[in-house]
Amino acid sequence: MAEILLVDDQKSIRTTLKITLKRVGYQVEEASCGEEALRLLERKTYDLVITDLKMEKVDGIKVLQKVKEISQQTEVIVITAYGTVDSAVQAMKIGAYDYIAKPFEPEEIVLVVDKALERKTLTERVKLLEEQVRERYKFENIVGNSPKMLDILKLVTQVCQTDSTVLILGESGTGKELIAQTIHNNSPRKDKPFVIVNCSALPEGLQDSEFFGHIKGAFTGAIKNRKGLFEEAHQGTIFLDEIGEISPAIQVKLLRFLQSGEIRRIGDNKSFHVDVRLIAATNKDLQQAIQEKTFREDLFYRLNVIPIKLPALRERKDDIPLLVNHFLEKYRNKMHKPIRSISREAVDLLVKYDWPGNVRELENVVERAVALATGEIILPEDLPRHIQGLEQTFPSTPSKPSGKLISLAENEKNYIMEVLQQCGGNKKKTAHILQISKSTLWRKLKEYGLQER
Ligand SMILES: Nc1ncnc2c1ncn2[C@@H]1O[C@H](COP(=O)(O)OP(=O)(O)OP(=O)(O)O)[C@@H](O)[C@H]1O
Ligand SMILES: [Mg+2]
Repeated sequence: MAEILLVDDQKSIRTTLKITLKRVGYQVEEASCGEEALRLLERKTYDLVITDLKMEKVDGIKVLQKVKEISQQTEVIVITAYGTVDSAVQAMKIGAYDYIAKPFEPEEIVLVVDKALERKTLTERVKLLEEQVRERYKFENIVGNSPKMLDILKLVTQVCQTDSTVLILGESGTGKELIAQTIHNNSPRKDKPFVIVNCSALPEGLQDSEFFGHIKGAFTGAIKNRKGLFEEAHQGTIFLDEIGEISPAIQVKLLRFLQSGEIRRIGDNKSFHVDVRLIAATNKDLQQAIQEKTFREDLFYRLNVIPIKLPALRERKDDIPLLVNHFLEKYRNKMHKPIRSISREAVDLLVKYDWPGNVRELENVVERAVALATGEIILPEDLPRHIQGLEQTFPSTPSKPSGKLISLAENEKNYIMEVLQQCGGNKKKTAHILQISKSTLWRKLKEYGLQER
């Protein structure tokens, strides 16, 4: 039953309204002045407030403001004296649902109240639905229904809300970066920076300054103060990919950051606090690195607060058909190709294959198949030869004379030729599949004397 607060300094009006509203089934409480209304509003939330505009000291506008401040969802109807429509309009601008001018028939107010409450219910339902949709699509990019993936999704949901350090482990292409990004996107830090650092791409000598910054004159070449990546990530998340590759000196500094939340720019004599959530990833066996004394054990324990171990694709083959459809959809739209589906035999081949490059390799294979397919259905012949089971190993070398080993260049030449052929001579498509630029393709074609074919 909806609860209504009635605010008016005229007792007669309160009484008539109360009787009318109670008769149609609403629960009604009264306040005889603005101050009393504010006190009641502090104590409980009403579904609807009906307030007179003109009252001593605390007027209807103040009551309205208070209501909206406490609960956006509560609807407000204001009552105005004849000829003061201006203030009613003002009230509606700050969020009143409607106004009623005095004198009014009690029936009139019932109608407005019904409508206001109806809107309230609808708004709430929409909000709920939106939340449910968001919930369901939260991890829309992560495909997987296998028990292993479901466990991971559950864990991801849990860690999103915390600031704990997460260590993501898994072979290359298993989705480590995807998981890190998902955690950030669903955390309270989502509107702040997500800084990705590929530790293996940073030369050892530069790591320190990249991570922590430096001050002017700290070393030759340090011509001005420079922020490090940790500062860039302030209030957000830093993702340290390939964490196994950081130098021993940086390991010490990272450990200090994890212990104190503080960092120090090179050349600076004082540390300062940064608010950064750390997610690290590696495909290396860190335990072994610890044995070999290349990775600090104390740092490992600080990082390993919440480990997320991503399974290799071959350990969750049930997910392959789902992933195939996901990528099919993605590339069909991207390349605007009228592909409807993939044949049963082709899916079987994909499920049978071992996927050393995991999801990334599967994604590439589907992309290539979409590019090559000439019909509406992807067929086994649209898959790479080694997946069709025609060859033992990649790369494909169609014209390899049997038994004779050939050079890398020869192999590359053959493969370019094969792709070019399968693309019907389309160089743009060929370059795309080979993942090289068109100019690189041109250069190679010239190099191998293939231009004219
Ligand atoms: N469960 C999944 N659902 C959908 N796409 C996925 C899934 N896992 C991975 N991918 C996709 O596969 C590709 C590789 O994933 P990602 O880059 O996250 O892997 P990685 O573990 O970081 O690999 P590497 O160790 O080589 O850096 C990305 O395009 C990613 O979107
Ligand atoms: Mg990665």
